[in-house]
Amino acid sequence: MKREDIEKVLAELGELKCKTQKDVEDARVRFLGKKGEITALFDEFRTFDKEMKAEFGRTLNELKQTAQARIEELKATIGEGEVSEGPKHDLTMPGDPLELGSRHPVSIVRQEIVDIFRKFGYDVAEGPEVEDDYHVFEALNFPPNHPARDMQDTFFVSTGHPNPLLLRTHTSSVQVRAMENMHVPIRVICPGRVFRNEAISARAHCIFHQVEGLYIDENVTFADLKQAILLFAREMFGPETEIRMRPSYFPFTEPSAEVDVSCNICHGKGCNICKGTGWLEILGCGMVDPNVLEASGIDSKKYSGFAFGMGLERIAMLKWRVNDLRHYFENDMRFLKEFDTAVEV
Ligand code: DAH
Repeated sequence: MKREDIEKVLAELGELKCKTQKDVEDARVRFLGKKGEITALFDEFRTFDKEMKAEFGRTLNELKQTAQARIEELKATIGEGEVSEGPKHDLTMPGDPLELGSRHPVSIVRQEIVDIFRKFGYDVAEGPEVEDDYHVFEALNFPPNHPARDMQDTFFVSTGHPNPLLLRTHTSSVQVRAMENMHVPIRVICPGRVFRNEAISARAHCIFHQVEGLYIDENVTFADLKQAILLFAREMFGPETEIRMRPSYFPFTEPSAEVDVSCNICHGKGCNICKGTGWLEILGCGMVDPNVLEASGIDSKKYSGFAFGMGLERIAMLKWRVNDLRHYFENDMRFLKEFDTAVEV
């Protein structure tokens, strides 16, 4: 035996390539089997004298260990019958797609409304959801025993003192805060969440969203209100849209009106969405009552203004023909995914 014999086997081991488990087994037999190359070297070794044994013993043992380790390694990394050289996985493959969420339909509608009124020069104002009686009712001219102040309709947070805390029942409270904090002329819209003590049904929920609008300046008239609502309705529901106003009552506006838009499904002919009338109600509005202006320190002889308020879920229902309000709150992915296309990237 010469050193070169051992080095030759080592080199062969280094170049060893196996594609299948069968190749690995063949390699084991070739090197370590009964008639294997390394076994043959050991057989020869046994015939050596002491001196020679001392010279080759360690190197031969190392060679055997190297061969065993290499065979084990190949066994572990090669699948049954599988062709493999290098890593088992294709590292260049694209990763699993990340599932993206979509914006909630109510958020989409809110953004649309905000964008429309921003174009008209309105700012966005916000106020607290836990409000006091003064901002939700009193400053808005609600008489002390108005039914909205009843526990049946309002969630109270604290009671038993003259100005109890409650969950706001409408975003009109933000118009009071705007009047208190801003200088006239005021042009704001106030989107936000509101709360009412209502039984949940297809048409009502105890939590929903509104957008309030307020414009105060010198010489603001009902004609301005009508024009603003008409422009909004056409931006929101299409250029063909008509509006009609019906007299109504709100404590904080005088005169007050409810606004309908022409049904964008049947175009006025009458269908089951508009219940055969050709019209869909979208908001309440009116000229700000002088009492309301005065309560917030605005001179009602010099200034006048209009206000309006609408429910976001209602607008979203009309826009996408959703017939049950509860869908907006249940977070059913099948429903929410319908609005995927509306995601801004
Ligand atoms: N706050 C009213 C409600 O919750 C909506 C409303 C009606 C707001 C008329 C207004 C308005 O500003 O003028 O039903």
